Amino acid sequence: MSKALKDSPPLAETLVAWQKVHGRNHLPWQNTQDPYRVWLSEIMLQQTQVSTVLDYYDKFLQHFPTVLDLAAAPQDKVMGLWSGLGYYSRARNLHQCAQDVVSRFGGKFPSTAAELITLPGIGRSTAAAVASFCFSERVAIMDGNVKRVLTRVWAYDADLSISKHEKVLWQLAENALPTRHLKTAMPRYSQALMDLGATLCLPRKPNCQACPVQSECKAFALGEPEKFPVKTRKIKRSSEVLWLLLAQNAKGEVWLEKRPPKGIWASLYSLPLFDSEAVLRTVLEKYSKLKKSDKTAEPNSSTAMNLEVLPAFKHVLTHKDLHCHVVKVQMKKAPHTPNAGAWFSEKDWVVLGLPTPVRHLLSNSL
Ligand code: ADE
Repeated sequence: MSKALKDSPPLAETLVAWQKVHGRNHLPWQNTQDPYRVWLSEIMLQQTQVSTVLDYYDKFLQHFPTVLDLAAAPQDKVMGLWSGLGYYSRARNLHQCAQDVVSRFGGKFPSTAAELITLPGIGRSTAAAVASFCFSERVAIMDGNVKRVLTRVWAYDADLSISKHEKVLWQLAENALPTRHLKTAMPRYSQALMDLGATLCLPRKPNCQACPVQSECKAFALGEPEKFPVKTRKIKRSSEVLWLLLAQNAKGEVWLEKRPPKGIWASLYSLPLFDSEAVLRTVLEKYSKLKKSDKTAEPNSSTAMNLEVLPAFKHVLTHKDLHCHVVKVQMKKAPHTPNAGAWFSEKDWVVLGLPTPVRHLLSNSL
C-alpha cells in the first residue's frame, strides 16, 4: 500500500467519521474556504461562545464584506461594531491584520500557517485553523477545548503551565493528524476536535457515553476525565481603583474621550478616568476656577456643577477587578481631561465602542 493511502492514525479516522454525522456542519463560517470569513470567525470565537458570535459575525460581514473593506474602515467604526464582544485587543488586532493583509499580501490572505502566524492577532492555533479549514494544510490546532480533548485521550498529566510540556503536547497533536485524503480530512479533523471539546468533552461532567473515542481514551479508562488538563499556575489577579467623570452638559450630552492605544480599554471611548478622587477633583476645581472668571458663571460653581457621587461598583476583567467610583456633574463647558474628547448625544454614543461598565452607566445613570 502506498504511504498516501495508509490509514490515518485511528483517532483521526474515528473523529473524521464522527464529525461528518454528529459534528456542527451548518455554522455560518463553515462550507466556505474564504480565509477572510474563516479568520474573522476564528478571532471572534476566541474566548467567546458560538451563540454570542453569530450576530456579530453577520454584522461585520454586512459592514465589511471583504478584507479590503475592513482595512479601509475607520478604527472607531470597527471598535463600535465590536462593542459588547469584549477582549478589545482582538478588535484592534483584527483591524491591523486586515491592513497588513492589504499592505503585505496585496489584499489576499496568505495560504500557509507559517505566513498567517506573522500577522497581528494570529497565534499558532488560529493560523492552523485557517490553514486547515481553507487550504487543508496538515497542521495542528490547539485551543483550550482541543487541549482538554487531547490531554484526556492520552491521559497527558504534565503541567501545561510549563511551556516545555505544552510543546510536547503540540508535537503529539502533530503526530496524530490525518495522513490521507487531506483535502477533505484536514478541515473535518480540525472541526471534529473543536466540536468534541464544545459538545461532549466538557470541562465538567463530560458526556463520555456519547464520545466516539471513549474506547481509546486513557482518562476515561482511569475513571477521571475531569482531572485533565493539568494546569497549576493560576492567573495572578490584581485590582485597581478607578474614578470616572460622568460630565453632562445642558443638552444632556456626555463628555467622552478616546483612550490611548495602550492600557485599560485601549482605543475605546470612555468617560474620563482618574487614578484617585483627588486627581478628579483637581480637574473639577480647575474647571470651576475657569468658570469663576467667566462672566457667565454662577456665583457658586460647585452648586452650578451639581456634583453627585454615584454608588461604587466592581467590574471584573480576566486579570483584574476594577473598583469603579463615579462622579456625576453638570458642566457648561468641556472639562480639561487628559485625552482628546467631545460631547456625545445618546444617538452618537450608542454606536461607539464603549467598555461594558461605561455603556451600562450611560444607559442607567443619565
Ligand atoms: N471555536 C473556534 N473555532 C470554531 C469553529 N470553527 N466552529 C465552532 N467553534 C469554534
